[in-house]
Amino acid sequence: MARKPMMAGNWKMNNAIGEAVVLTQEISNNWWKDWEDKVEVVICPPFVDLKPVKTVLEFDKTKIFVGAQNVYWEEAGAFTGEVSVPMIRECGCDYCIVGHSERRGLFGETNEDVNKKVRALLGGRLKPIVCVGESLAVRDEGTTNEYVCAQVKAAFAGVDAEDAAKCVVAYEPIWAIGTGRTATPEQAEEACAAIRAQLAVLFGEETAQAMRILYGGSMNPGNVDALVAEPDIDGGLIGGASLKCDSFIQLVKAVMQ
Ligand code: 13P
Repeated sequence: MARKPMMAGNWKMNNAIGEAVVLTQEISNNWWKDWEDKVEVVICPPFVDLKPVKTVLEFDKTKIFVGAQNVYWEEAGAFTGEVSVPMIRECGCDYCIVGHSERRGLFGETNEDVNKKVRALLGGRLKPIVCVGESLAVRDEGTTNEYVCAQVKAAFAGVDAEDAAKCVVAYEPIWAIGTGRTATPEQAEEACAAIRAQLAVLFGEETAQAMRILYGGSMNPGNVDALVAEPDIDGGLIGGASLKCDSFIQLVKAVMQ
């Protein structure tokens, strides 16, 4: 079964509401009806931008999806500073990034937290984009595949195949994020193939073949073609290059079948 490629822009902590609306409008202006069948485009802005970004896309009737960058697993209550699954759904989200290495590294998010978020999202009918990836130390040790597969196993604990099929996995080697140092297509493919094999162990071959696995880490218009030509790389999770309409659209077009 052919997997529909995905290009997801992770804006991280960039673009206040005014800038977010302008950039979304630019992206939306470039969208063509025939993209719909060929690629799934997702914009993941900061929480405060979710509703304004969604409003632009709804007004234009462009089939571009919106995702949050994080979420908390409880539905409501005394959790100062957190945002729940029903809240982001009400803002128009279909997706949510979970377990980004910046959240794991800077904010202490554990594999257990990632798993709680994945299950809360699925329970709330939202689709997680689950991030995994190794540090340079792990890569130098030669244990990358074991490390990312353990992250995958932990993230999906207690999830069944039917729900797993709704999820996307993003392989993002930490040493390649925002550094300009991309993984080679061979390195990225090796890790993504190992992830797919792990998904097959967990959920069966058919589900694993249906799930999309993205690469993230300094992906740009110059290196995208070689990366997405690999059999187990189904698109990208893009940081820096998603902040400019031009480069993001080039990446979307590169992945269209
Ligand atoms: P860059 O594309 O800026 O390296 O960021 C990748 C990333 O972390 C996307 O989630």
